[in-house]
Amino acid sequence: MHHFQYRDGELYAEDVPVRAIAKKVGTPFYLYSTATLKRHFQVFDEAFSGLPHLVCYSIKANSNLAILRLFANKGSGADIVSGGELYRALKAGFPPKKIVFSGVGKTQREMREALKAGILMFNVESLGELKTLAQVAKRMGKVAPIAIRINPDVDPKTHPHITTGLMKSKFGLDVETAFEAYLFAKEHPNLDILGVDCHIGSQLTEISPFVEALKRIKIFVERLKEHGIKIKYIDLGGGLGIVYGKESPPPPSEYAQALKQELAGLDVTLILEPGRVIVGNAGILVTRVLYFKETPVKNFVIIDAAMNDLLRPVLYQAYHEIIPILSKNRPKLVADVVGPVCETGDFFARDREIPKVKSGELLAVMSAGAYGFVMASNYNSRPRPAEVMVNGKDFYVVRKRENYARLIAGEKIPPFLENKSA
Ligand code: LLP
Repeated sequence: MHHFQYRDGELYAEDVPVRAIAKKVGTPFYLYSTATLKRHFQVFDEAFSGLPHLVCYSIKANSNLAILRLFANKGSGADIVSGGELYRALKAGFPPKKIVFSGVGKTQREMREALKAGILMFNVESLGELKTLAQVAKRMGKVAPIAIRINPDVDPKTHPHITTGLMKSKFGLDVETAFEAYLFAKEHPNLDILGVDCHIGSQLTEISPFVEALKRIKIFVERLKEHGIKIKYIDLGGGLGIVYGKESPPPPSEYAQALKQELAGLDVTLILEPGRVIVGNAGILVTRVLYFKETPVKNFVIIDAAMNDLLRPVLYQAYHEIIPILSKNRPKLVADVVGPVCETGDFFARDREIPKVKSGELLAVMSAGAYGFVMASNYNSRPRPAEVMVNGKDFYVVRKRENYARLIAGEKIPPFLENKSA
């Protein structure tokens, strides 16, 4: 459920006509609905009520400070994967003791920053990382709280690029190596074992892979217990899918129910790292049609947003619904919806049946709240779009559109090229 709905044939974000925002802000821009964000967080969190749990919103899905503040205010924790995300999380007001740090390639600098901040736990992904973390903590006179990320070898049945829990993927450790890592950590005075971690993939539309992963973790936790290692947290990662088109993912209530069942009787706190399921359908990308082009074989709708703004269609062959801001009910046509970037991969939809649109009119690319702006780039020297947050009748620019000066900020012509003859 989301708050982007037609009223009298015109698309509204909560109580604001999207057209009014476009007039003020220009296009393209990302638009987020506060009511939707709040509701999604609440529905997810409440689904786990009765079970000791901590929801750590996965910052990588959408890291705008306004969105982070909203979740921090709601009592969420944060799942981070870089020093930059730690910086954002602290700025947004997440309590350090609710931050978990995942990722296969943490640098020593990032480790120091997280130890200094006093985060809840590091989700460690290799023996090398564990040993480095122990040394860094020792040098700082600290004890690093850790979980080891297990690779449970479960197929999440999602796109290969966002599958992480298979043996051949770079993430986590197989159970035998993980076991070794726990034995190492147990003996090390600068490491404190708190949990077991796993994340098997993203945009999962079935519950069974999660349950299978959890079953394997439970067996592992039991094995650790037999070796005198007590686990306080099981971190199951994120990954619950959303509806982009025809998918029918389980609602958070069913997902939670299945996990609760598995965890019954276990004295652990469950950590979840949802990203997409919270923010995905709480955001849209608003764009304007520049041209309509007919060729002997195809129609093209050329819009002012491009692959640099939303990479998902070309990277994952992802489906995003595209709708006009004004009146959906009109004759249809089949077209490719494409951006201005000089790449054939710059498309939002291919051979898509959409309402017959005209130059100058506004379109919404739906379900763009997750992995949208965060994956935007300046390719083709295109300034990244604005981000806007609507709250009831009001809207706020929560990231201004980049300008040309920003495009070259930090670049420098070296002295030897200053002279024209060089
Ligand atoms: N935890 C870890 C360790 C992760 O790697 C991820 C996502 C999450 C949590 C959150 O997963 P979610 O609940 O959002 O599925 N750019 C891709 C998705 C990449 C996901 C990477 N990891 C896309 O646009 O589909």
